[in-house]
Amino acid sequence: MQGLPVARDEFNRFLTQDARYLTDIQRAVRWFYLIRNSYGSKIVNPTITISNSRAGRLNALTLKRDIFSAQRRLARVSLENLSFRDFIPRMDAVDTFFYVDPPYFACEDYYGKNIFSREDFTVLRDMLAQIHGKFCLSINDVPEIRELFKPFNIKEVKTRLVWLEVIVVRRYKNCWL
Ligand SMILES: C[S@@+](CC[C@H](N)C(=O)[O-])C[C@H]1O[C@@H](n2cnc3c(N)ncnc32)[C@H](O)[C@@H]1O
Repeated sequence: MQGLPVARDEFNRFLTQDARYLTDIQRAVRWFYLIRNSYGSKIVNPTITISNSRAGRLNALTLKRDIFSAQRRLARVSLENLSFRDFIPRMDAVDTFFYVDPPYFACEDYYGKNIFSREDFTVLRDMLAQIHGKFCLSINDVPEIRELFKPFNIKEVKTRLVWLEVIVVRRYKNCWL
């Protein structure tokens, strides 16, 4: 992977490959190349990001270090691939802290169709109101979300996403991160 250029043609070559016929290693390289170079790390219908002001995010010089630092970060982590509807009740306890980072309002299909619906915001809000543990939820700052989460404490936060205003929502007032 270290020799791969960040190039639109290369991106499209990976994109048109049929992953079913690749080895595990080839699939991993394809996935990493596409996600690193896609706009907003979008994996469903990704488009390459080439900027006139910033270098690409796939850096051959730091590739090994980046992969090892992800490995280190995940060393003591357990991953689940579950809907929040199953995951939250399963993990909830008095000592649980949930960081909830759902798809953003009006971007529900960003991660694929039929994964998260607009109605799921209400289901999620009602679930979070019932849990024994604590939570912090980050989401885009739009009137519909402010209205939905108004029973909770809402705080505006600064992010590096210049195109997006973000808020965090919590249940307990004096308990910001
Ligand atoms: C705003 S992104 C969070 C990104 C993540 N915090 C990160 O840094 O990569 C929203 C995430 O919610 C996941 N998601 C979508 N529908 C979901 C569902 N029903 N239950 C749980 N997670 C879901 C998406 O796959 C996506 O990873």
